[in-house]
Amino acid sequence: MTPPSNLIETEIPRVVLRPIEYLDAQHIEDAVSDERFPAQLPLSERVRTGQHKVWVESMVLSRTLGRPSFWSIDISTKERCIGQVGLLMDKQTTKLWLAYWLHPKHWGQGLQKAAVAALVNYAFRELQAREIFAAVGQWNERSSGLLTRLGFSRSGYPGPGYELNGENHITEEFFIDRQKWIDKNA
Ligand SMILES: CC(C)(COP(=O)(O)OP(=O)(O)OC[C@H]1O[C@@H](n2cnc3c(N)ncnc32)[C@H](O)[C@@H]1OP(=O)(O)O)[C@@H](O)C(=O)NCCC(=O)NCCS
Repeated sequence: MTPPSNLIETEIPRVVLRPIEYLDAQHIEDAVSDERFPAQLPLSERVRTGQHKVWVESMVLSRTLGRPSFWSIDISTKERCIGQVGLLMDKQTTKLWLAYWLHPKHWGQGLQKAAVAALVNYAFRELQAREIFAAVGQWNERSSGLLTRLGFSRSGYPGPGYELNGENHITEEFFIDRQKWIDKNA
């Protein structure tokens, strides 16, 4: 059966990306409340401070306005929003920033790699993006490993860091350009 056109298929059967919805806020809470989910991420802080619902609303609005936004990862007919992947545009630099998370119970199966690959592919092939960036905490080896496996490189520059509980978090900038992605995935 052909899926509705607002879904992005991944290379894994039945694992699809669909546009973020208001009800996904509850799934974010579930994932972040798992003790394996890193507490030092902005998403964890959003849940702790109750800001995640407002964040979801703002992402739904971005999507409605046709702006870069988030997609939720569904295992069709089984489980909704096991994680998310998104692209956000920095208004000043116009850089497209990639972000993603997965419920820890689904880690270690290649699901997030497939989800990120599907969105990056969509951005380069359908949205004609030229470069995609990601900012990764130096401690986050699972995340940097995922990006490296997909062909991203370290730019050598720091990413936009963030402050959490009065502590500054430094990130590394990763990137990939359209030609490299297409050559790698031809
Ligand atoms: C970062 C994160 C998404 C990675 O999740 P993940 O499940 O490890 O990612 P992948 O989908 O790439 O899976 C890789 C693992 O699956 C295994 N795997 C199994 N089958 C696989 C397949 N067909 N293809 C690829 N990997 C496969 C790999 O061996 C690897 O296992 P390992 O980590 O034990 O070596 C997850 O740790 C997460 O949500 N973290 C919190 C949020 C976060 O840090 N976001 C990024 C902020 S920059």
